[in-house]
Amino acid sequence: MKKNQFIWKHKHLIGLRDLSSQEIEHILDTAEGFEEISTRSVKKAPTLRGKVVVNLFFEDSTRTRNSFSLAANRLSADVIEFTQKSSSVSKGETLLDTARNLEAMGIDIVVIRHSAGGAPKFLSRNINACVINAGDGYCEHPTQGLLDAYTIRKIKGSLEGLKVGIVGDIAHSRVARSNIYALTKLGAEVILVGPPTLMPAKVEKLPVKVSYSLDDCLGELDVINMLRIQFERMGSNPFPSIKEYSHYFGLTVERMKKAKPDILVMHPGPINRGLEIESEVADGPNSVILQQVANGLAVRMAVMFLVNQGAAIKK
Ligand code: CP
Repeated sequence: MKKNQFIWKHKHLIGLRDLSSQEIEHILDTAEGFEEISTRSVKKAPTLRGKVVVNLFFEDSTRTRNSFSLAANRLSADVIEFTQKSSSVSKGETLLDTARNLEAMGIDIVVIRHSAGGAPKFLSRNINACVINAGDGYCEHPTQGLLDAYTIRKIKGSLEGLKVGIVGDIAHSRVARSNIYALTKLGAEVILVGPPTLMPAKVEKLPVKVSYSLDDCLGELDVINMLRIQFERMGSNPFPSIKEYSHYFGLTVERMKKAKPDILVMHPGPINRGLEIESEVADGPNSVILQQVANGLAVRMAVMFLVNQGAAIKK
């Protein structure tokens, strides 16, 4: 089917696992069209004029939250910023009551981040507004997976046949899951790299290869995506010391000598400089970390535009 014949029909974006490669390509193609808005002197389009977007964040965020806010503003939507810390959740109000009360004000799109896996799906079944997952527990972070795929496609032309290493704390990473689904559906080979204690349960069921040695596989990678160790999600230490982890899995200037000269170095942020990646590498010539952030804006504009379109079709 030609690109322009495709009609997006989903009212929600909960994850990438259940999307087809064609649907993922369609989001990326749509994002390409939205990039131009950010180059205008007046960075606005009327696409979501009259619509209300709620940023419903129950976990901290710098990139995702501000990117969704700016994306919604650029599309002329009104934006409500909800944070758990300053809300009536502290008085015992439930997620559903919170969402329903906001919905009573007339909202169209809920962007939710929550520590509980499944919270976005739950909301999508219980409210009328469109729901976009901005990260749920260890499950998915679909717009991160999309912006990572978008960044690779933009620089390399295609993901077909590329080898992408995802390194570090895979077990606790929703970014890793959404990346795995997006990248493999678009034709890349994904290699998960890290100590056995940071591999997810049932890793053999994922469409990936696994390596316990970064030095063994670094030379064959076209893209390397370094993950933060999510100490806040761990009950006990998964490795003897941070120094030892950095020694075996940190991306250092010295280790980069083994990489292809045109390898793309990615990181979803926030970075723990000196732990999973050295500053000289994070800020070096192969790094596309800030391009990922920039591309997130167009991707989130595209996602909000598409779910709004999906809602109109479902009416
Ligand atoms: N990548 C990402 O989700 O960053 P934030 O936690 O700052 O949103």
